[in-house]
Amino acid sequence: MCGIIGFTGLKQAAPILLEGLARMEYRGYDSAGIAVVSSDPPRALQLAKVSGKVAGLFEKTQNGAAFPGTCGIGHTRWATHGAPTETNAHPHVSMHGMFAVNHNGIIENFVPLKQELLAKGYTFKSETDTEVVAQLLEDNYEGDFQKAVEKVLSMIEGSYAFAIVCRDDPDTLFAVKKNSPLILGKGEGFNLFASDVTALVEHTREVVYMEDGQYAKVTPDSIELFAEDGSPLPLVTSHVTLSISAAEKGGYEHFMMKEMMEQPEAVERTISPRIKDGEIVLDDFSLTREQLLGFRKIMITACGSAYYAGLAGKYAIERLCGLPVDVQIASELRYSDTPIDDRCLLIVLSQSGETLDTIAAVKECKAKGATVLAIVNVVESALTKLADSVLYTWAGPEVAVATTKGYTTQLAVLYLFAVYAAKVLGRLDGEAYASYIRELQQLPEAVRASLKLDCDMENMAQYFKDAQHVFYLGRNTDSALAMEGALKFKEISYIHAEAYAAGELKHGTIALIEPGTPVVSLCTNEALIEKSLSNIIEVKARGAVVTAVVPAGVPVSEEIRGYADRCVEVPALRDIFASIAAVVPLQLLAYHVAKLRGCSIDKPKNLAKSVTVE
Ligand code: F6R
Repeated sequence: MCGIIGFTGLKQAAPILLEGLARMEYRGYDSAGIAVVSSDPPRALQLAKVSGKVAGLFEKTQNGAAFPGTCGIGHTRWATHGAPTETNAHPHVSMHGMFAVNHNGIIENFVPLKQELLAKGYTFKSETDTEVVAQLLEDNYEGDFQKAVEKVLSMIEGSYAFAIVCRDDPDTLFAVKKNSPLILGKGEGFNLFASDVTALVEHTREVVYMEDGQYAKVTPDSIELFAEDGSPLPLVTSHVTLSISAAEKGGYEHFMMKEMMEQPEAVERTISPRIKDGEIVLDDFSLTREQLLGFRKIMITACGSAYYAGLAGKYAIERLCGLPVDVQIASELRYSDTPIDDRCLLIVLSQSGETLDTIAAVKECKAKGATVLAIVNVVESALTKLADSVLYTWAGPEVAVATTKGYTTQLAVLYLFAVYAAKVLGRLDGEAYASYIRELQQLPEAVRASLKLDCDMENMAQYFKDAQHVFYLGRNTDSALAMEGALKFKEISYIHAEAYAAGELKHGTIALIEPGTPVVSLCTNEALIEKSLSNIIEVKARGAVVTAVVPAGVPVSEEIRGYADRCVEVPALRDIFASIAAVVPLQLLAYHVAKLRGCSIDKPKNLAKSVTVE
């Protein structure tokens, strides 16, 4: 949801800004722009914007060479106010060219502020809320950059991260954070900041995670951090160990393929260090045994794929812990009257840790007394600050918009939590506990085995590439898996895909099955395979072409083979853990169909990675 960057130092700013934007492009890719203070007189803000991807900006600025200067800001956008045109692209420059502003977020009171500025004679080029901020800065500027920033911050409402540059203060930038991420990077002879640490690591590993309400004055030699009220704050520096290659494609054609292939290691990193001598040890889990014993209900909330991971986790937690688990989409939960109190554990899932609806739902539930456990991938992200306890998914940076390793590592943490909590609650012990631990340890290998289906799924993709609709069916854990499979398929191939609890199809939707309609039937749950078989027979009778996903080496899978048109064999796992390996061929199928159709796999149309608007 927009990536912003600022650089000031001894080197040329434009190439650094462009590289940083390219790394953050997954955050938004409908337009991009940079503003650099010119090094040659007369001093001016040099501005380049394009609608479309950052590649266009490289071209327009001759890879940055056309914009000499050592201080500037950059932006890659996912449009909220105004269409993704060049005019609406950031940075926005004030009427007399004094300030340029990049913004991630929304200014809620921009309409009255704009009216006041119009009345004062300011003219606007764009339809954005951001241009109002640039004009306000100019209107409140009396020769002191910092005072103008402070004044404007006191006037605006909403959520934002800003990068601000001033023509008259050519080495200084201001970075402002409220509800959108911003990380400061400390260098030798330069300083910079960005929405994502992946844009910083090429230049420095010493970073400062800004907190909401803070702003920073950044010059080549210093970073000064301030609280909302203007009082100075100490800089708390963290060392980032992330490798640069983690943010690069590493020889793969797409980030999505690279990230799918990274899943065995990601799941291993998430699970293995948390199992010591046959016991689950959650060093980073701060809820006590007494707290766990006190919960009467678990609520899980998230958006998109993270929500589907939550649905899968429900089956594991209910089975093992015997607690009722309700799973709600965050954008619904935040406005619902679902009873929540201090005997409720809220488990919140988010790869980015930034999703606005998820954050809002957490705030609502916290206010009602819930204890919050966050399962998050991005270190120090907003959700980690709200939670009572955090369990990280150690997936590493996920760049492709469609999540893959983010989802499988969320499943891994939910499974770990279910087994851990069952033990603490006294519901699992001895050999039963040990057998769950053994299976958890096998999950990375099971995911690795599923990845060997890549060629099969590539071949199978041709049967799906011209479909109008695809149906994904499953029962129990497989119904949650069906939802994730259908989402992955539609979001990157742009073919309509719909998931149904297999037994529910006949209550209406089966009317849409026609001769040739592709159906993906998920049958990983051995105990329910007979039931799934009946559903396969039902859709086959209406002409559907069925691809079944079945556990390998299980006799009952043979029965399915007799009816399905094609079978995909995945590692046989306990039903509540099966999705982690069975999702892999579904991810691969979506990828290969999208590739055959020439779709923009890493950056599907209309989407952005972290959704920081309602
Ligand atoms: C789909 C996908 C999205 C995200 C959703 C939540 O492939 O990636 O549905 O899962 O936007 O994002 P996070 O997990 O960052 O809160």
